[in-house]
Amino acid sequence: MSVALVTGGGGGIGAAICARLAALGHAVVVADLDLDAAERVAKEVGGTAVRTDVADPADNAAMVAHAVAAHGSLDVVVLAAGIQSDVPPDPGIDPARYRRALGVNLDGVVFGVDAALPALPAGGQVVVVASLAALGPEQANPVYALTKAAAVAYVRAMSTPLAPRGVRINAVCPGFTDTPFLGITARLLRKQKMPLLSPDEVAAAVETVVTGSGTGEAWALVPGRPAQRYEFPDLPVGLHADGTEIVLKPFMSAK
Ligand SMILES: NC(=O)c1ccc[n+]([C@@H]2O[C@H](COP(=O)([O-])OP(=O)(O)OC[C@H]3O[C@@H](n4cnc5c(N)ncnc54)[C@H](O)[C@@H]3O)[C@@H](O)[C@H]2O)c1
Repeated sequence: MSVALVTGGGGGIGAAICARLAALGHAVVVADLDLDAAERVAKEVGGTAVRTDVADPADNAAMVAHAVAAHGSLDVVVLAAGIQSDVPPDPGIDPARYRRALGVNLDGVVFGVDAALPALPAGGQVVVVASLAALGPEQANPVYALTKAAAVAYVRAMSTPLAPRGVRINAVCPGFTDTPFLGITARLLRKQKMPLLSPDEVAAAVETVVTGSGTGEAWALVPGRPAQRYEFPDLPVGLHADGTEIVLKPFMSAK
């Protein structure tokens, strides 16, 4: 049986991903800072729970060890744990809040991938839940955008060294999603008649990626449309002697 591990699986989008993956037939490990929440979701999906602070490398190693000990293998890793940065764009940055945002949203991805790789077989994969904020200007929350853009850059860069091992890595970039994460912003968005994604719509996008075949991709998701692979432009890096462009193409591009 395929085994899936979901960080941030105790709530919001992560919990919906746990339910989707369980319905697809995966045994599910629910990893979350909030152990009670993780245990509740694990009970619902017939999986197991492990308390994990994704900002901590030792916790990442322990969650992978738990998956292998409890279920015998690890095939799919979804890194969904994340927090609002709570770092406003005004001067006077709070270093502790800044470090915590990077710790959860960025270290949580790098340490999560690093811990999972030794356990992932050929055919295994990682999906990172980034954000639409990674792909476009996010005015209210620049530090959050920074963490998510860096996570997408990491996914794209890691796809090349992981390819020879047969391990895929992709990102899903949802827009505003109706979870506790949004806090009071949810009310403001509703007032502005801004449609919100449901956590299950994000989980459906994760299913699209998990059941697909690409790697190094970022999938954008907005209300009212299926997830779409985001097309990064070719990157000109210089000129050949004959004056034609040298272009870096995304690895294994479907173009
Ligand atoms: N809700 C949105 O509008 C939205 C949009 C785009 C992307 N995202 C991203 O989706 C992911 C999930 O967000 P959500 O809306 O479900 O949030 P949420 O707050 O509803 O749930 C987040 C879950 O992560 C857990 N968590 C928080 N810090 C953790 C840590 N250090 N280690 C382990 N678990 C931790 C929480 O306990 C919670 O169960 C995040 O990465 C977020 O950045 C959210």
